[in-house]
Amino acid sequence: MKNKDKSREIVKIGIQKHLQGVILKEIEVIQNKYFQENYLDIRDKAFVKNLTLISIRNRGVIENVISKYLERPLPKRQIEIKAILIMGVAQLLFTRVEDYAAVNTTVNFFEGRLKKWRGFSNAILRKIIRKENYKSKKYDLSLNIPNWLLKLWVRQYGREETEKIINHIFKEPYLDLNIKKDFDYWKNEINGIEIMNNTLRLQKSGDPKKIKGYKEGAWWVQNLGAQIPVKLFGKIKNEKVLDICAAPGGKTAQLLNEGALVTALDISEKKNKKLMFNIYRLNLEKNLSVISIDFLKWNSKEKFDKILLDAPCSATGTVRKNPDVLWNKDEKDIERLSGVQSKLLSKAINTLSKNGILIYCNCSMQFKEGENIINFFLKKNEVKLLPIKAGELKLFPKEIFKNGMIRTLPYNYNQIDGLDGFFIARLIKK
Ligand SMILES: C[S@@+](CC[C@H](N)C(=O)[O-])C[C@H]1O[C@@H](n2cnc3c(N)ncnc32)[C@H](O)[C@@H]1O
Repeated sequence: MKNKDKSREIVKIGIQKHLQGVILKEIEVIQNKYFQENYLDIRDKAFVKNLTLISIRNRGVIENVISKYLERPLPKRQIEIKAILIMGVAQLLFTRVEDYAAVNTTVNFFEGRLKKWRGFSNAILRKIIRKENYKSKKYDLSLNIPNWLLKLWVRQYGREETEKIINHIFKEPYLDLNIKKDFDYWKNEINGIEIMNNTLRLQKSGDPKKIKGYKEGAWWVQNLGAQIPVKLFGKIKNEKVLDICAAPGGKTAQLLNEGALVTALDISEKKNKKLMFNIYRLNLEKNLSVISIDFLKWNSKEKFDKILLDAPCSATGTVRKNPDVLWNKDEKDIERLSGVQSKLLSKAINTLSKNGILIYCNCSMQFKEGENIINFFLKKNEVKLLPIKAGELKLFPKEIFKNGMIRTLPYNYNQIDGLDGFFIARLIKK
């Protein structure tokens, strides 16, 4: 295989895995292993990452185009065929790869047991080239959102807002670095834009390990939206904080950097190892203790005055960076997650001391994982809302403050090209 074909082979495997429900982060692990085994150079690696992302990001549009030119449906169990076609059409519609190269390299994948699909794939791609007029077409990006989710967002936010979300989330992602200290020094070292007095934004989200200051532990990757919850504790130097669902530790790092004494708890031992690796890299381990346990099974006699609960969620607020989140969950998952979030919050409230403060947050854009849960618990009357006021976060735009809580949407703060979608509420125990 020529180098480019090796690259496409791993793109194809990535898309195939995605169609089977494997999450993007795991696909990246598989791809990185393949890079090492096949000695791909930097350009080929970039090609693989880019084409995989483009294919997943535009999956809905691509599938829609393919379906227009199919005379009969693709065989359901042949995911490989679908993956190859998606890769081919992605190149035609969304890259600068020459049409002939996209067609030839795609058709060449149909060999061996797939050989009988060679003519079929060739015909489809050529029909698309002849009839689709894709060079000048503006595709309806809402096709990239599963119908049930699109309807839900429209119901929650209305058409106009949903349109703004759609116009934002399919753009290339950026990367935010939270700088531990010496901001001015690192601002000069790293080629990023200052979007807050501790945060640099890099326009390309490449391999963080290659960015200056990684080894020195000068920063950690953390979207501006994800930084808000910890800020809402105010001053926390020398205060004990229970950080529930802590891994991989972005908010843990923030808490420690503010001088808090942190107990970080996560169900996943593997993810906690990552958390510890990050915290040691940042040299912030002094006031940290880590517990690997299901919080629902945790038996602590101690009550905490400050608790952060960053509950597991559908992560739809991070879709710009993780386009697969739109595809690997369905309506039932949202219900299930909402149940888990409620149980975690109930237990967190039990672990909170009287007058203690609990910050509940997650990066979902569905009310069922945010507003609805909080409203339910407010009715139960064990906690009340400690309203978040715009004046507390003066550098953030007013549009994110809603009913004493925070709801960020990816297009908010458009001057800096947006931030991740987040929901945050601050509660106080009665
Ligand atoms: C959104 S991530 C947390 C991100 C983290 N707070 C940060 O800022 O980097 C959710 C985490 O919840 C953890 N989790 C899920 N169910 C849990 C449970 N029952 N008990 C403890 N942790 C849980 C997952 O392992 C995952 O690491």
